[in-house]
Amino acid sequence: MATMTVKMSREEPAVSYASRYSLPAEPKENDTKSNLCSGPVILLSHGDPTGFKPFWRSVGDKCKVTIDSCDFMSYLTDTGTVCWFLEKELEEAIRQLHRTVGNAVTDDRHILVGTGSTQLYHAALYALTSPGGPEPVNVVSAVPYYSSYPEETNFLCSALYKWAGDAYTFDKEGPYIELVTMPNNPDGQVRGPTVNRNDGKLIHDLAYYWPQYTPITAQADYDIMLFTFSKSMGHAGSRIGWAVVKDKDVAIKMTKYIELNSIGVSRESQHRAAKILGAVSDSSQCIGANFFEYGKSLMAERWTKIREVISRSRLFSLPKYMEEYCQFSGEDTEPHPAFAWLKCNNDIEDLEIFLRRYKIMGRGGSLFGSDPKHVRVSMLGDEETFNLFLERLSSIQDTITNSNGNGIKFDELERKQIR
Ligand SMILES: Cc1ncc(COP(=O)(O)O)c(C=O)c1O
Repeated sequence: MATMTVKMSREEPAVSYASRYSLPAEPKENDTKSNLCSGPVILLSHGDPTGFKPFWRSVGDKCKVTIDSCDFMSYLTDTGTVCWFLEKELEEAIRQLHRTVGNAVTDDRHILVGTGSTQLYHAALYALTSPGGPEPVNVVSAVPYYSSYPEETNFLCSALYKWAGDAYTFDKEGPYIELVTMPNNPDGQVRGPTVNRNDGKLIHDLAYYWPQYTPITAQADYDIMLFTFSKSMGHAGSRIGWAVVKDKDVAIKMTKYIELNSIGVSRESQHRAAKILGAVSDSSQCIGANFFEYGKSLMAERWTKIREVISRSRLFSLPKYMEEYCQFSGEDTEPHPAFAWLKCNNDIEDLEIFLRRYKIMGRGGSLFGSDPKHVRVSMLGDEETFNLFLERLSSIQDTITNSNGNGIKFDELERKQIR
């Protein structure tokens, strides 16, 4: 299996337009000098869901799609629904999947498709605001929030809306939009809205409300719910997301945004997504329950392994989660989030920088509005990378714990450049 380790060769400019999805810069001379570990760079800063690949490989031909050169030539589909570019087969597969899993109400709701749920997020911001207001509407989310929200919200310096940070400390008057990510990226907690005022509008980002990550405790039924093919099935490359929307006018405005932004959504991608979602819902195809079982056991195994490594020292800690009854599996289940929200417990001030020295690339707490003692590491990558990460984490712990046994603190360790 191909490993997700990378050879680094680029320096980031002072003002960086580097993509979040491009390779990280080579650690600077000072960084590499103090490495306790040699070996490849371990990239865990993105939630690239390649860990599910062995399952899809095992499915073989069952989800194969064939597209002829004359297929999908028109911009138009003929659904007759609000979202004029949504393929009928995808709409049916989405509704059926939610009925099978029991994670969201879709009856009498509008289904919209987007190029990833990222595009639908922008569409929702557009739909929930109107031109001519005295100032842009504030957009908030409770810390720690998904790190892309601030950048995505402010990217075009919109006059309609602007990022206003942490929902816990938000005290400005006037209309606002609150993003509720449930379960949360980065820390996997299940939370409701925080501000709770009458002049607020909510967007529920349910990217991870699937049985492999969290117990399904109820059918979600919110005004705007965003889902993604990336995290539900692991097919991030198809760039398919969908929204379940209660209000027709909001659905029309969101559709208008996508019409102006990209004149619809790839019909080939929709066709493939429909095939895969349909197969997962269809018990006669024998892959449905299996996919979520596979995903859940993969995530559970990884969480057991990482907790075991962390428990060997007091250097790092992880959030604890409560078991709850999962209506989909019919058993009490512990959450196994897509990310580990790792915290360091000693005098290391910036855990992202610290781990970088050992060529472990996570995403630092500050990007999530939280403190730099936290780092988010992906639990979704391929097996080889994940195991390499655990090995390296374990040797960092051993080295630091042994040195601390001699009464040496982390900054002294750095000065002594212990290898
Ligand atoms: C909470 C959350 N929302 C949305 C997205 C974006 O999903 P998509 O790949 O469908 O654009 C992600 C991706 O990591 C996410 O973590």
